[in-house]
Amino acid sequence: MKRVAILLSGGGSNMVRLVESMTGDHPARPVLVMSNDPQAGGLDKARALGVATDAVDHRPFKGDRAAFEAALQAKLEDADPDILCLAGFMRILTPAFTQAWAGRMLNIHPSLLPKYRGLDTHARAIDAGDAEAGCTVHEVTAELDDGPILGQARVPVLPGDTPDTLAARVLLQEHRLYPAVLRRFAAGDRTPITLT
Ligand code: GRF
Repeated sequence: MKRVAILLSGGGSNMVRLVESMTGDHPARPVLVMSNDPQAGGLDKARALGVATDAVDHRPFKGDRAAFEAALQAKLEDADPDILCLAGFMRILTPAFTQAWAGRMLNIHPSLLPKYRGLDTHARAIDAGDAEAGCTVHEVTAELDDGPILGQARVPVLPGDTPDTLAARVLLQEHRLYPAVLRRFAAGDRTPITLT
């Protein structure tokens, strides 16, 4: 049985779907939900789902990323996860940390990578006049939003879409895609998934 830790910064809607998916004959179980924000709403949701939680507030580290990550790593070692899922985790990780978790860390990004790495993905897709948008689950490497793609889901960009309406449409697909990719990844299968 694979042990999964989930890192989040906000409401944790992706974490909820991941935790809810890890039941029955699923090859993984959640062992920790951790945040860089002790007040993150996702921590309450994780506790309500019976999952252990922890937090390392990044603010006292004042940009010393290595020190912040050392604190994260210490708590992760206690939980001893096999897989790390970034789910709405909004801190950039150093190459040292991503190297330590190479091949064992996933992230969900709200665009059809390699398009629109970074932030404001929905506004950028609308401004570019794209007909399609979506989300990507990928392995995390040193380059931001750049690792091997493990799954994608596509949605139409509709006339009159705002970043918020598009984000809501994409989020529904994130909630389908991430659990599907995690289940396959936990079973040792890296064959990419495309959801339509
Ligand atoms: C989602 O759009 C996800 O793609 C991005 O963070 C946003 C919030 O995710 N990584 P969640 O509701 O906190 O899971």
